[in-house]
Amino acid sequence: MKIDLKQVKIEAEKDISGASDQQKLRQIEKKYLGKKGMLAEVFVGLKHFPAPKRKEQAQAANQVKKTIASLIENKAKQFGKKPKSDLQKVDLTRPGQKIETGHLHLITQTQKEVTDIFKSMGFGVVEGPQVESDWYNFDALNFPKNHPARDMQDTFWLKRSSVAKQKLLLRTHTSPMQVRYMEKHKPPFKIVVPGRVFRNEATDASHEAQFYQLEGLMVDKNISAANFKAVIEEFLTRYFQTDVEIRLRPGFFPFVEPGFEIDAKRKGGDWLELMGAGMVHPNVFKAAGIATQSVAGGRSDAGWTGFAFGVGIERLAMVKHKIPDLRSFYQSDLRFLKQF
Ligand code: DAH
Repeated sequence: MKIDLKQVKIEAEKDISGASDQQKLRQIEKKYLGKKGMLAEVFVGLKHFPAPKRKEQAQAANQVKKTIASLIENKAKQFGKKPKSDLQKVDLTRPGQKIETGHLHLITQTQKEVTDIFKSMGFGVVEGPQVESDWYNFDALNFPKNHPARDMQDTFWLKRSSVAKQKLLLRTHTSPMQVRYMEKHKPPFKIVVPGRVFRNEATDASHEAQFYQLEGLMVDKNISAANFKAVIEEFLTRYFQTDVEIRLRPGFFPFVEPGFEIDAKRKGGDWLELMGAGMVHPNVFKAAGIATQSVAGGRSDAGWTGFAFGVGIERLAMVKHKIPDLRSFYQSDLRFLKQF
């Protein structure tokens, strides 16, 4: 059907000016501009025009469409309502508002990364209490009473209370979980223990009153320092994503014998002191009730051996991301935190 554009325009003007309310106006809008409205029909009808006239007719139709739309918009203002077409005035090309999202703290990320590596090597992940007893933090780990070794770790002691029979403290390391775990589980096992620890000392670029550690413990038959070396080399290579060489120096920790200080070196890098470790001391096994020797003495089927290690989570992150100051982790400065 051929529609006369001029006629359409005249009719529309009449309809619009006669519209008595918003609803009528919407009906008129639909009649002319709707999906099945008269102008839509005009556009469909374009194909019947001979090519040279088609463009002209299309332009004319567009003009009429615009005119009708603006008449409707003006009329709508009379009814005090926003014309619907305002919606179409949203400028979709304007840049949007950026929504800031948070993310995990670098310590949390590192802890997850590290425990994931150990998990993939078959280690279990367990956690222990931050408020510990003197027994688990020191005695059971073979720190003799009044021995200077206790001063290696400045301790926050809790006020004595009538509820707690024991002297309580904020754990100075994650090693107490070695004993807690061995009391409840029979070897063989291998676990890591991430957690927060506390030291009563002044802060500087490499000391904080609280920080995070990861303890490792593997107990089985015939575990030796060679097993430790293999596990820790694999872990460091995966964490630093490059070949890592390690060396063991003698070190003293009451709960291991022999004890080591572990240095690590990445390709082309320098030797860095990274963690403490050693072979679990027989007194620690004893405190946890685990048999290390046969009745006849000497190693036997009843004898378990194991290695343990302790590493600072922040220390690992500092080396990997070249962070010079331990205190940056705790200052909640977004300029620092956003980088990771
Ligand atoms: N607990 C020690 C510390 O905080 C670190 C450590 C050293 C843990 C040797 C171990 C170990 O398990 O075998 O300084």
